[in-house]
Amino acid sequence: MSARSTLAPVNYRPLIHYAPRANWMNDPNGLLYYQGLYHLYYQYNPQGDTHGHMHWGRATSPDLIHWAEHDIALHEHEHEIFSGSAVVDWHNTSGFGKTGDVPLVACYTGHTQHNQAQFLAYSLDGGERWTPHPETVLDMSKKDFRDPKVFWHEPSGQWIMAIVHPNERQIELFRSPDLHHWTSLSVFGPAGVTEGIWEVPELFPVQDDAGQIYWVMKVDFNPGGLFGGSGAQYWLGEFNGVTFTPTTEARWVDHGKDFYAALTWNELPERRVWIAWMNNWQYAQQVPTPGQRGMMSLPRELRVVHTQGGPRLAQCPVLELQQLRQDSRPLQVHTPIEAGQALELQLSWEAHIPLELEFHSAAGLECRVAISPTELSLTRPSTDLTSALPGYTGTHRAPLQPLTARQDLRLFLDTCSIEVFANGGCSVISDLLYPAQPIREVILRSPDLSAANLHAEVWTLK
Ligand code: FRU
Repeated sequence: MSARSTLAPVNYRPLIHYAPRANWMNDPNGLLYYQGLYHLYYQYNPQGDTHGHMHWGRATSPDLIHWAEHDIALHEHEHEIFSGSAVVDWHNTSGFGKTGDVPLVACYTGHTQHNQAQFLAYSLDGGERWTPHPETVLDMSKKDFRDPKVFWHEPSGQWIMAIVHPNERQIELFRSPDLHHWTSLSVFGPAGVTEGIWEVPELFPVQDDAGQIYWVMKVDFNPGGLFGGSGAQYWLGEFNGVTFTPTTEARWVDHGKDFYAALTWNELPERRVWIAWMNNWQYAQQVPTPGQRGMMSLPRELRVVHTQGGPRLAQCPVLELQQLRQDSRPLQVHTPIEAGQALELQLSWEAHIPLELEFHSAAGLECRVAISPTELSLTRPSTDLTSALPGYTGTHRAPLQPLTARQDLRLFLDTCSIEVFANGGCSVISDLLYPAQPIREVILRSPDLSAANLHAEVWTLK
């Protein structure tokens, strides 16, 4: 590679996605909605731009869109602070509360080279300062046993934890009355994709539009992803307080390469929202943003929709994103774009007509999104900058069966990412995208644009 091509001519700092100011970030952790604020903790290495020395970094937001980065919440000590979750312990079951305080309690994996065990930490000031509790609450003397996701299960009046045995490709469910004492309930797996180790499980309820509740079991794996590297799958099913019983096959969470370790917010009333680390373990430590690596996806609201192939999870970017829209314009066959901006595109048209969107810079084609009556796809061409990233170049495909006679597509383009939601949020592709030059034009193609009855808008997002 020539010296010139190793210098990125583009500022890849995301405009509408969370990324810490500097250093390495991976999984979201401890997602909690409390006192009107969204709390986001995350895997963070304050010492560099690759994985290691895991701490919990911290950010908060009033609206899931504007994030403030804060001081580190949990520091590496005898162990690194690996992934986990946080709860509001309203009734002080943990005993961490002092006279009337409601403790926030985090449950995370303490990682050393030879052992992974689960620990608690608590905050009495709404999530700013955390006190680690010295004793482990769940230790099976295993090298790999991690990523506890804890939630309050109202019907059985107890805490439930989903935690993963990565090498066995199993998720174990535990229960506890007080967050300190955990009793095994059941084991799920191996199932679905078992090629790679399993990580970051979650069990949570989601509703369909009629209000019927489905339980979702989600797990990530590495490798075994649809297009190489890491990926994620889920099952819909039933949970009776003891056992999760799937009623669907395993399905892909996302048909792109960069949506990993998604977790949902605890304590969020009326809707279920998740966010993921927008990356892939295949190349995460080499992405061309030295000094700062790792960003979050856009937050997405989840619901279950019924398709010909049965019920499935649909993901839609949260409504709050609409507040970023500036100066709406119709999308033309050639639409010029101001360099260095984030964009949203929204299209609807007759579902039997295929359509393509091309994103061009001064250097040429940077990305192609195509949608036909049977498939959504996204192509990342090779560039000087990205040819060294293993598994970056290629086409990512999502099968599709139009839900209605009109197709819908929403697309979010940021400085180094693209997220495409089609068919009511049933087909989603999330990819990092490092254009060689800033994108300056969107080109729309279709073999029969006149029959498409297209409505297409583009917004700059600020
Ligand atoms: C997933 C993961 C978790 C682990 C954390 C370490 O990306 O490997 O299993 O807890 O990251 O940073």
